[in-house]
Amino acid sequence: MSVGPYHPKPHLRITPEPRLRTHDQEAATPKEVGWSIPRPVGTLGGVEVDVELIPAVASYPIRHAVLRPHQSIEQVPFKEDDEPGTATFGAIERADGAVIGVATVFRDPAPFDAAEAGVPSGAGSNASTWRLRGMATRSDAQGQGIGTLVLNAVFDHVAAEGGDLLWCNARVSAIAFYERAGFRTWGEQWVIPAHGPHVVMWRRIEPGRV
Ligand SMILES: CC(C)(COP(=O)(O)OP(=O)(O)OC[C@H]1O[C@@H](n2cnc3c(N)ncnc32)[C@H](O)[C@@H]1OP(=O)(O)O)[C@@H](O)C(=O)NCCC(=O)NCCS
Repeated sequence: MSVGPYHPKPHLRITPEPRLRTHDQEAATPKEVGWSIPRPVGTLGGVEVDVELIPAVASYPIRHAVLRPHQSIEQVPFKEDDEPGTATFGAIERADGAVIGVATVFRDPAPFDAAEAGVPSGAGSNASTWRLRGMATRSDAQGQGIGTLVLNAVFDHVAAEGGDLLWCNARVSAIAFYERAGFRTWGEQWVIPAHGPHVVMWRRIEPGRV
């Protein structure tokens, strides 16, 4: 399968433009305080990264290489990919348009009772619950904050769509990553053949985050 030319549609731009800021907001001139250019949120190791909505097909090479290398690329699409309301986000290198991180999100009731799991504030109705799938960063770009940028775009999207609960079947190897992003585990671990041990994780999405 060929992904073909990819034309990103600017939608959600995580990377703020670099802007000058003083260490001392009251100071009058750059010389008095020394101006600094804060590192934009999406600049990682000198590489500028935008997070945008992308066509699901643009996420397939990373899904395949990182999550499902034992399968053929024809097997990596999810049935939800082309359903209305499904969103796939990509972290895209500004310099060359390369997609280096991906995640897909869609409405899907949680596999647990929200109140029993401790979801606060009455959140987690079937209509306001979203599922995260296909979260992956290209292997040579992991550990630099790309996944966190993509996750934040997912959180903002879910909140903008009125969602208040996000869950996923997390690989046990990614639990720490999700915990740092505010997820907690639910229930027992289980093994998905060829994918290893998993556990359900969930996170409340605050309506006010967008
Ligand atoms: C899990 C995964 C998506 C996380 O993506 P990522 O881009 O590596 O995530 P981040 O860089 O934001 O965070 C990962 C780590 O980098 C650290 N980090 C974050 N920002 C950083 C920065 N600017 N510089 C260096 N390290 C940073 C984080 O603290 C985190 O530490 P950890 O390795 O101890 O967890 C990615 O590692 C991956 O694709 N793994 C394989 C597939 C997988 O398991 N996917 C999840 C399926 S449920």
